[in-house]
Amino acid sequence: MKSRKLLPPAASLGAQLKAARAEHRERESQGEIAALRRQLRHTVAALERARRVKLSPLRPARARPTKGDITRLCVGDLHGAKRNPAAVAAFLGDVKLLQPDHIILGGDIADCGGFLAQHHTLGYVAETAYSYEDDIAAANQFLDALAAAAPRARIEFLEGNHERRVETWCITETLRHPRDAEMLRKALAPEFLLRLKDRGIPYYRLSECYDGLSVPGVIKRGKCFYFHGITTSKHAAAMTLLRTSGNSVYFHTHRAQTDLQRRVSVGVIGAWNPGCLCELQPLWQHGAPTDWTNGYGIERVARDGSFLHINIPIIEGRSHLGSLFSSL
Ligand SMILES: [Fe+2]
Repeated sequence: MKSRKLLPPAASLGAQLKAARAEHRERESQGEIAALRRQLRHTVAALERARRVKLSPLRPARARPTKGDITRLCVGDLHGAKRNPAAVAAFLGDVKLLQPDHIILGGDIADCGGFLAQHHTLGYVAETAYSYEDDIAAANQFLDALAAAAPRARIEFLEGNHERRVETWCITETLRHPRDAEMLRKALAPEFLLRLKDRGIPYYRLSECYDGLSVPGVIKRGKCFYFHGITTSKHAAAMTLLRTSGNSVYFHTHRAQTDLQRRVSVGVIGAWNPGCLCELQPLWQHGAPTDWTNGYGIERVARDGSFLHINIPIIEGRSHLGSLFSSL
């Protein structure tokens, strides 16, 4: 322990104060040096420990076996006579290349424009230029070409709001007489004019429930729900997830969209709209540019139902699947 320096008794008070301050500063400096030395010792020890840590080496995870996986395509909103021929041709080319096992048609395969609300066509002669016969012929031609391009695919058909318009019209025209309405529906509805039964294609109506689900028009395949659409929101994918709380593929809004969300109860879930195969700017939209996009969805589905979904855009009549394939 240092002893305080004694000043001669004759020293002035000022000199004594100065000496005391110098002694205080010296004690402070010694304390700081000791603290820095302790810190340095801790840092050196931490570095030494870090040097000795053994980490397991980083290795790529082994890819899952793919035996039993299937390829599923999801496509919708062809709109019959209002189809985009270049987009349809691009899609069919990819179908031939992919040879899918399963195809889900997402509805609005026929446009049924004559059965639509009047405000959609009023005042535009060009919009009413096609007949229902033309419309059904275009949808039939598409189904023929699809079956030829994918001979081993199981095809399922979800009713869209446009096909449903025929049923609504039949009910209105028959003054809601159910048996007459059903007779008219069987004569006019796309389900029958497209000969789906003969083609072996099941048709899921918007007025019936399937797969033990409580919402009509929805089917469940593996770990995903499929339906025509339940919202036209700008953020339809997010809204769809909010309402289904499960993986969902939907159509109806005509624009490719994806949203993934993590939920505490179910983990990560996704909603996808692959886009449409119809014209991107119909006259009934008047001068408002649409945000529609052409495309379809491709899914690789494992035996346990888990799946990868990718939306394939078709832009200016060209599918972008080719660029993905060439990079693999
Ligand atoms: Fe549609």
